[in-house]
Amino acid sequence: MVKKALEALLKEDRVFPPAESFRRRANVSDPSVYDSAAKDRLKFWADLAGQLHWFKKWDRVLEWDLPYAKWFVGGTTNISFNCLDRHLAGPRRDKTAILWEGEPGDERRLTYVELHREVCRFANGLKLLGVQKGDRVTLYMPMVPELCVAMLSCARIGAVHSVVFGGFSAEALRDRINDSKSKIVVTADGGWRRGAVLPLKQFVDEALTGTPSVERVVVFKRSGSAVPMKKGRDLGWEELVGNQSDSCEAEPLDSEQMLYLLYTSGTTGKPKGIIHTTGGYMVGCYASTHWIFDLKEEDVYWCSADIGWVTGHSYVVYGPLLNGATVLMYEGAPNHPDNGRFWAIVEKYRVSVFYTAPTAIRSFMKWGDDFPGRHDLSSLRLLGSVGEPINPEAWIWYHQTIGGGRCPIVDTWWQTETGHILISPLPGITATKPGSATRPFPGIEADVVNDQGESADSGYLVIKSPWPGMLRGIYGDPERYREIYWSRFPNLYFTGDGCKRDKDGFFWLLGRVDDVLKVSGHRLSTMEIESALVDHPAVAEAAVIGKSHEIKENAVVAFVTLKGRAKATPELNQQLKEHVVKKIGSIARPDEILFTADLPKTRSGKIMRRLLRDIAEGRALGDTSTLADAGVVNSLKEKYEED
Ligand code: WT7
Repeated sequence: MVKKALEALLKEDRVFPPAESFRRRANVSDPSVYDSAAKDRLKFWADLAGQLHWFKKWDRVLEWDLPYAKWFVGGTTNISFNCLDRHLAGPRRDKTAILWEGEPGDERRLTYVELHREVCRFANGLKLLGVQKGDRVTLYMPMVPELCVAMLSCARIGAVHSVVFGGFSAEALRDRINDSKSKIVVTADGGWRRGAVLPLKQFVDEALTGTPSVERVVVFKRSGSAVPMKKGRDLGWEELVGNQSDSCEAEPLDSEQMLYLLYTSGTTGKPKGIIHTTGGYMVGCYASTHWIFDLKEEDVYWCSADIGWVTGHSYVVYGPLLNGATVLMYEGAPNHPDNGRFWAIVEKYRVSVFYTAPTAIRSFMKWGDDFPGRHDLSSLRLLGSVGEPINPEAWIWYHQTIGGGRCPIVDTWWQTETGHILISPLPGITATKPGSATRPFPGIEADVVNDQGESADSGYLVIKSPWPGMLRGIYGDPERYREIYWSRFPNLYFTGDGCKRDKDGFFWLLGRVDDVLKVSGHRLSTMEIESALVDHPAVAEAAVIGKSHEIKENAVVAFVTLKGRAKATPELNQQLKEHVVKKIGSIARPDEILFTADLPKTRSGKIMRRLLRDIAEGRALGDTSTLADAGVVNSLKEKYEED
């Protein structure tokens, strides 16, 4: 995968400088910002922080005690205040904050003053339920404005939100609730997805059979499906906010107050609760949104990510609202009722800035030019991409067919851990190259290093100094935090991504170098899927790998050995796929499961995943000299080719 991607990228030499008309109006167009930020990084970030509201100004911009950073130390602020109250005194008061379309076609609009009112009411409701500063609240919701309301309400009173993507199963939800010890769960009676209702409340009920910390469940009515309500535990959203006052002062919070936890997959079987705090994260989201998405007062901004992922946290909710933007939010699938739904939305609401993932772009490409062709996309002026490397072919299609050749593309690199974008073009400055995320954002020190940790033209992407929105650790597991991110190279943050740097200093991201898989932009751990498989009574051993996939980037392929009496039948194959769905969620469903008598192992018993990848990709086998039993691979290869 990495090698193929590299070859394709190396051939790419087209360059797209910003159009003069774009440059002239851009929020930043002076290339000297890079140098001045590099000269005094702390001043650079402090100046940006100064554009936001602080109840008390910070004493020190940064305290860095590797691997723990504190930003804007001693300052107090509130991100909910900065997203809402800060806009209410001026013309943004009655500007649309959220423009929402449900999958069935229903529509809602909330102005900043209306959103502020809803947030105050829900925040008061949370207080009534006994939620206090520092308490964790799990949000398991469809893409409805109330999810934003719930997040901003937690932030307002200093509670910590933990949003769990609606595509995770009841068991995955249970693990995340227990790890965070959430007191409250907020959910909905369902959400629309591809014409059907996703029964979120049912999953919550299942999850809550083993979650001692949970006291109350708040249920928002979205789909109208009848859901059982457990007496003394469950209550309706309307019931909770019905009598609440429209005002709730935003709590002045320490800059390092925990803002949220977001679980993401790593290289082990257990998801990590990534910790983000208030002040630095706020500044990073605010500044990157303004500089990279170039938002203007009249823009209609749409990031198609689900809020259950970090992209939704930083670039559906916090970044754009901090900038007083009009944010479009769509509840459902891109192919409902037909493959042109996104373009119908762009046309209807005159979307001007659109941010999506390469996997989506490749699906649109496959569905054909007719769908976008039927809609007026002339309102678009800037396009963005995130989540995986974008192949030049998809980049060019996006540029031509969606952007009409006139919109700059910002290919933005970042991670759940980084909180905000760290590598990206600035659309009024950077001449882009299809497939490259271009350069580190001003004030960010990134490098490419070899195995020895020395600066090199190709190797691993690392970050050399702290940035405002960086993770503050893994919830409840400081050791793991050090080990994963800070032990590979001394004094460098290890991203887990392969990267190449070209003669112009541009960065070309090449995908993960660890056991993390990107499948349709979703982050999965091979170990997590393996544990889910081994949890099935018929399975003895499992090895999971990613196989290149035209649209999804990776397909999930599992090699499974069975226990004594279990029979390798198509029914069992199907059952195992369902078992993974039950343990993790539909996003992790294996594309292929291959039963095998043995797995290729080294003499010390380590499964040789590289060989399995070679087999699945139909490649010539690499070095097999360390194999304990060379016969295994040949029979496996034959078997794979037969299947
Ligand atoms: C991983 C992080 C960041 C929000 C969505 C994903 C890959 C992300 C790019 C890009 C190449 C990218 C990396 C990274 N990635 N953006 N523009 N080009 N690769 O967040 O789920 O935490 O995944 O996504 O491999 O490590 P995430």
